[in-house]
Amino acid sequence: MAILITGASAGFGAAMCRTLVRAGYQVIGAARRLEKLEQLKLELGEAFHPLQMDVADPAAIDEALKHIPEHFSEIDGLINNAGLALGLDGADKADFADWQTMIQTNIIGLTYLTRQILPQMVARQSGYIINLGSIAGTYPYPGGNVYGATKAYVRQFSLNLRADLAGTGVRVSNIEPGLCGDTEFSNVRFKGDDERAAQLYENVQPVRPQDIADTVLWLYQRPAHMNVNSIEIMPTAQSFGALPVSRQTPPPEAAPAEFEKQSTSLFQKIKGWFK
Ligand SMILES: NC(=O)c1ccc[n+]([C@@H]2O[C@H](COP(=O)([O-])OP(=O)(O)OC[C@H]3O[C@@H](n4cnc5c(N)ncnc54)[C@H](OP(=O)(O)O)[C@@H]3O)[C@@H](O)[C@H]2O)c1
Repeated sequence: MAILITGASAGFGAAMCRTLVRAGYQVIGAARRLEKLEQLKLELGEAFHPLQMDVADPAAIDEALKHIPEHFSEIDGLINNAGLALGLDGADKADFADWQTMIQTNIIGLTYLTRQILPQMVARQSGYIINLGSIAGTYPYPGGNVYGATKAYVRQFSLNLRADLAGTGVRVSNIEPGLCGDTEFSNVRFKGDDERAAQLYENVQPVRPQDIADTVLWLYQRPAHMNVNSIEIMPTAQSFGALPVSRQTPPPEAAPAEFEKQSTSLFQKIKGWFK
């Protein structure tokens, strides 16, 4: 039995590989950068299998799945972790190609891989799918447009999988993290502008990849009768703000005069009815 983790070459995925292998699981780590996975293999040994896979391309997923060695081929855990945000521009300025890449990776890739792996879990009447959503799938923020929408998809897809998998013994959880540091997430989002990425984490203690990996291990170690549907994790330092209100022009001081004018004319009208 093995756990297939996508996005294993960096951030959360690499931490999950280390944590799960050390806890005794057999792990297949998938990503596009094979050299990073080979480094993990040197560190983790025979219980880890590196698998080059571009999840944004369904044909590449099919091809990669053919190269899983026999003793890793029974997959009873799938962690759909590969994903990315690109850009933080408003919807009227964002690069449409970035939107397509996020949809292709975060939605199509996750959905296609799940569809490929699920039948063997259902046939065995056991298995566990853990998806990496985000708080961006629940709480909107400026510039989160398509990234947040892809994570809202992941959230709802996870819940709908639970509905389809009723009675099969297959479990599904969606992990929804907030601000997390020590990953490549923001460097990717800001397209290599590492200074801008670093500013996000200045003087703040974000959630770390190990925190997410520990959460995954905890989920795996829950008894088979228990399903955690979703789990939202934020740094203590991150919280919620008031909803912004865009004030109308003319400025508020003009409003009482306008109100007086309107109510006087309404009063004149009503008076007219009783003449
Ligand atoms: N960090 C955060 O603040 C945060 C918060 C909430 C949710 N998340 C979510 O958590 C997940 C992991 O994020 P992270 O912070 O660990 O990011 P990260 O450090 O950038 O790692 C992303 C991983 O995804 C892989 N990946 C990206 N595109 C891929 C593709 N087309 N095919 C295969 N693998 C691909 C990357 O590997 P290759 O480049 O080698 O392919 C890398 O291993 C993502 O789904 C992200 O949306 C992150």
